[in-house]
Amino acid sequence: MWVYEKKLQYPVRVSKCDPRMAKFLVEQYGGADGELAAALRYLNQRYTIPDKVIGLLNDIGTEEFAHLEMIATMVYKLTKDATVDQLEAAGLGAHYVNHDHALYYENAGGVPFTAAYIQAKGDPIADLYEDIAAEEKARATYQWLIDMTDDVDLQDSLKFLREREIIHAIRFREAVEIIKDDRGTKKIF
Ligand SMILES: [Fe+2]
Repeated sequence: MWVYEKKLQYPVRVSKCDPRMAKFLVEQYGGADGELAAALRYLNQRYTIPDKVIGLLNDIGTEEFAHLEMIATMVYKLTKDATVDQLEAAGLGAHYVNHDHALYYENAGGVPFTAAYIQAKGDPIADLYEDIAAEEKARATYQWLIDMTDDVDLQDSLKFLREREIIHAIRFREAVEIIKDDRGTKKIF
């Protein structure tokens, strides 16, 4: 159960119409290391992870949906005024034919999202290491996206998201230690 606050987690501003950048940003919308994959992965793991880290998965999984919303807003703002010719020049001609200006869960190459991007092993250490890797990959992707644009407003929002991935990776590493400590604890009956 969640309460929805009708504002973005962090402001999204763009300084120009830039469908080329929108095409790249979609990687974080429906790509293997993107926000949808992260949110679904963490929220799904809650049901079989030890109680001590359920809250962490809930918090971070929910936050990833807030990040998904930010990416969607970026893509929308970068493309809303683009002409068909501009979309085609940016490599979005096939997207336009299929979806007009609508967003779609796909990666930057146009491959639709698949649940095969994520795993659920049922082993807390295995799952948490996947989560750490997911955060590090998302952080790296945000860095490459920041490098691809000279729009300082867009960079500002992307830097926020990059920092959140760093924090998430730290928190998942802490969760691994909590689980390991718990496993090492002597149980006296
Ligand atoms: Fe994250």
